Amino acid sequence: MRGKLANAPAVIFMIAAAFATPRRQESRAASRPPWLQIDRTSLEACGACHADVYAEWSRSLHHFAWTNTNVRDATANFEMTPCRACHSPLAMLETGLESRPAYRNYNQDDGVHCLSCHGLKDGVAAARDVPAAPCRPRREPLLLKAESCYPCHEPTHSAFSEYYTSKAYAAGTRCADCHMPEVAERRGRSHGPNGGFNEAFIKKAVDWNCKIADSAATVTVTNKTGHKFPGEIPSRSFVIKCETEGAPPQYQSIRKPNKGESREDDRLKPDETRAFVFTIKSGAAPKITLLFKPFPVMPDEAASVIGQSK
Ligand code: HEC
Ligand code: HEC
Ligand code: HEC
Ligand code: HEC
Ligand code: HEC
Repeated sequence: MRGKLANAPAVIFMIAAAFATPRRQESRAASRPPWLQIDRTSLEACGACHADVYAEWSRSLHHFAWTNTNVRDATANFEMTPCRACHSPLAMLETGLESRPAYRNYNQDDGVHCLSCHGLKDGVAAARDVPAAPCRPRREPLLLKAESCYPCHEPTHSAFSEYYTSKAYAAGTRCADCHMPEVAERRGRSHGPNGGFNEAFIKKAVDWNCKIADSAATVTVTNKTGHKFPGEIPSRSFVIKCETEGAPPQYQSIRKPNKGESREDDRLKPDETRAFVFTIKSGAAPKITLLFKPFPVMPDEAASVIGQSK
């Protein structure tokens, strides 16, 4: 308490200073070209002119990369300094696709900013040149490669070592072709959220069927993602539930082990087809439900249903 009081004058001075000049600072920031505005929020820097893209991105985990609870907990509120760079990155094209991006030590709450991916020294990276536009888009082949996701998604989380073994990679399907599908409303691609919180998106992850014979229900699942399923984010799990009348439900749960947990990483490999067998009473008619849980202790009712037998 005494410490706080002692600091009070300094705090009051800082607050006063912050209120004394915001208009001037703001207009100075706004007068810089958009590609130099990574210190402003993505909304202020790009959002007014790109409202659709902004609305998509703002609901994705790229936006929440610095603020989401899992990451705050896992990094001790980012006191763990090696964890900072990808969760609040500067423009990754400036450091190149081979190395992890540099840490943006300001405006962290914006997470993976528009300019973390699009920022160039003299404009924004794009699929085509639009010299007359105020943000000066320039065709940048590096942005259009699958490896534009590499600087943040590989070194720690091995998405690419899995992807390089997949049929999707062999067919030339990029990460963005799945995770940034083309949108009907405009000429462009969805900026999210295309991950574990989007039920329609997760449904694309598997093909499956169920065969019942005698006293067994066999659920066959094929992984159609370009990596292990569930992909990357450790808290996700895939759960197959088998219900028959008069018996408690049976479960098979597929996920990455928690740190220190003695459990196999039994996730489906890229393109793997696997059979899951449930023993049932002879003649029983089981109901099979495929669930995807973004959080480990989520009740079944809250999970995404990605498949269900009639
Ligand atoms: C003052 C308005 C304005 C601001 C601010 C702005 N842009 Fe743009 N942007 C445009 C216009 C206009 C176009 C051209 C659109 C067209 O021709 O379809 C464009 C085009 C683009 C393109 C290429 C689109 C395509 O069709 O291939 C990208 C990428 C882009 N902007 C990114 C950004 C980013 C990132 C920011 C923030 C740093 C930003 N823009 C800020 C107006 C703006
Ligand atoms: C090289 C870039 C990079 C670094 C460094 C990095 N991360 Fe991440 N982190 C990511 C990416 C990309 C994701 C999303 C995909 C995934 O989870 O694999 C992510 C996701 C996460 C998530 C899941 C968040 C959620 O929404 O559930 C946690 C937790 C996390 N990181 C913790 C850490 C910790 C702890 C460190 C430091 C030891 C760290 N990260 C360092 C890139 C990075
Ligand atoms: C994780 C990286 C990443 C982030 C963050 C990101 N973009 Fe993009 N953006 C891309 C990629 C990659 C493409 C090009 C995809 C293609 O055409 O292959 C793209 C395309 C675009 C385009 C072209 C037209 C369209 O609708 O697709 C615009 C405009 C754009 N981004 C604006 C933004 C804005 C504004 C933000 C922030 C609100 C943003 N981007 C954040 C990677 C990103
Ligand atoms: C500059 C760093 C960076 C780049 C480049 C990047 N990502 Fe990410 N991405 C992250 C981080 C950090 C997270 C984790 C956010 C969290 O959960 O804390 C993430 C999360 C994601 C998620 C989970 C999103 C959700 O809303 O569920 C997907 C999917 C994803 N990234 C795909 C991509 C794809 C595809 C590309 C390439 C086009 C890409 N990322 C490029 C840093 C990056
Ligand atoms: C063939 C389509 C496809 C390709 C290619 C693909 N993914 Fe995925 N990815 C998915 C689907 C579907 C999911 C959702 C199910 C899951 O968790 O695996 C997913 C999940 C993820 C997640 C977890 C998102 C979350 O919020 O749980 C991340 C991160 C991710 N992918 C990153 C990547 C990166 C990086 C690449 C390229 C190296 C890539 N993906 C290639 C389809 C694809």
